[in-house]
Amino acid sequence: MNAPPTSPIAAIVLAAGKGSRMGSDLHKVLHPLKGRPMLGHLLDSLARVDAARIVLVVGAGREQIERAYPDIPKVVQREQLGTADAVRAAEAELGDFPGTVLILYGDVPLIAPDTMRRLCAALAGDVVLAVLGFRPADTRAYGRLVTAPDGSLARIVEHADAGEEERRIGLCNSGVMAVRGDVLFPLLARVGCANAKGEYYLTDIVALARADGHRVAIVEAGELEVSGINSREELAALEARLADAVP
Ligand code: UD1
Ligand code: MG
Repeated sequence: MNAPPTSPIAAIVLAAGKGSRMGSDLHKVLHPLKGRPMLGHLLDSLARVDAARIVLVVGAGREQIERAYPDIPKVVQREQLGTADAVRAAEAELGDFPGTVLILYGDVPLIAPDTMRRLCAALAGDVVLAVLGFRPADTRAYGRLVTAPDGSLARIVEHADAGEEERRIGLCNSGVMAVRGDVLFPLLARVGCANAKGEYYLTDIVALARADGHRVAIVEAGELEVSGINSREELAALEARLADAVP
């Protein structure tokens, strides 16, 4: 039997942030993990999901990324105004993409191809957006997933903006999302920056999509696969845990 036709996938990989918390001149997404640059892991996984298009969003330190990956199509985010603004930088390339847009963060490098497929497959009917969540042992500064009574996702609150009760939520945002191409850029155009960091948060598109009557699904993944790397301590800790997990 033939597999049902699936929607084509375009991937947007965010790598424009300065990565200042790494305290290093080497671009954050070029730091090696398991012997390869973080970004290399993501690009290899994308090759295995047969992404029809890949757009890498670069900004601070982009010449390093250009040198390391000259053949990957890139767009430039001029100023690092936040993750929603970074995704908007890809609109010229993907504004009329007819399929599913998969958004990945360069500092969340170990997402398995199967997980990418699972997330994209969650889009159906009135589900136009799916977010990859996880339950880390230490919630650190991750965004928290606030669920609706029906188990779908109501909104994401960033750690910096969360109240005490919201910070007790254990279900966190990995940063990875799948969004129907035709709704993504109109939603992004409505994101504001009145928040604790004064940034345009990608995570705000969840509440906006719901306000439009759409449903947002949560797909869960294991902690090791979706750990975000923002500092050399986090990088070293993940390396150590991976070494323990894989004999
Ligand atoms: C982000 C999420 C948070 C989530 C966490 C998972 C937002 C607002 N927050 O927080 O909910 O739990 O990831 O690891 O999305 N980037 C750009 N341009 C910008 C800003 C960032 O390209 O203007 C890129 C960075 O290079 C990085 C990625 O986007 O690859 C995420 O940015 P980062 O600043 O690390 O976000 P977090 O604070 O980790
Ligand atoms: Mg991060």
